[in-house]
Amino acid sequence: MKKTVVLGVTGSIAAYKGAGLCSKLVQANFDVVVMMTQSATKLVTEQTFLTLSKNPVITDLWDVPEWQPGHISLANKAELLVVAPATANFIGKYVNGIADDALTTYALSHPGKVVIAPAMNPKMWNHPAVQANVEILKKRGVIFCGPADGRVACGADGTGRLESIETILNVIISTL
Ligand SMILES: Cc1cc2nc3c(=O)[nH]c(=O)nc-3n(C[C@H](O)[C@H](O)[C@H](O)COP(=O)(O)O)c2cc1C
Repeated sequence: MKKTVVLGVTGSIAAYKGAGLCSKLVQANFDVVVMMTQSATKLVTEQTFLTLSKNPVITDLWDVPEWQPGHISLANKAELLVVAPATANFIGKYVNGIADDALTTYALSHPGKVVIAPAMNPKMWNHPAVQANVEILKKRGVIFCGPADGRVACGADGTGRLESIETILNVIISTL
């Protein structure tokens, strides 16, 4: 039986790379359910993830096709939540238990393992607020993958690039 992975995609310029990860996860025989934040949908389309995952894409907490909301029914079967790319905003909300959209609500409902692959401008990544949030999540058992060093989309050099898809996939496989 396929293992279910929830792939959270947030509003980072690296959101398109989430599509590559989705494709690799499907090829690795995972059942992939994608949740996109509203910001993510401005950068890459829901249709892309629908086609790659072959599952409905969840973008709206209030779009509830079954009696049980998706964040509850999925939490009973998903083995892993991976958020790639993860924005500074997502990390901050998750640390503080904020659940104001489908993905953050799901994250608080998810009892299993969590992998976060951040992607952001190096100044954002190095901000004390972000670093403090990451440390808290690590202490709670969240597995961080990246970010990597190099040039980010806005042209700055430093730490903030989304880790490579291969590395994120390997972390997911070894975590499961
Ligand atoms: C073009 C563009 C690219 C962005 N890229 C990033 C990014 O790589 N990382 C990040 O943390 N925020 C980035 N942001 C800011 C987030 O989109 C913003 O903080 C948003 O509130 C995140 O919402 P979400 O966490 O619900 O997806 C970007 C914004 C824009 C307009």
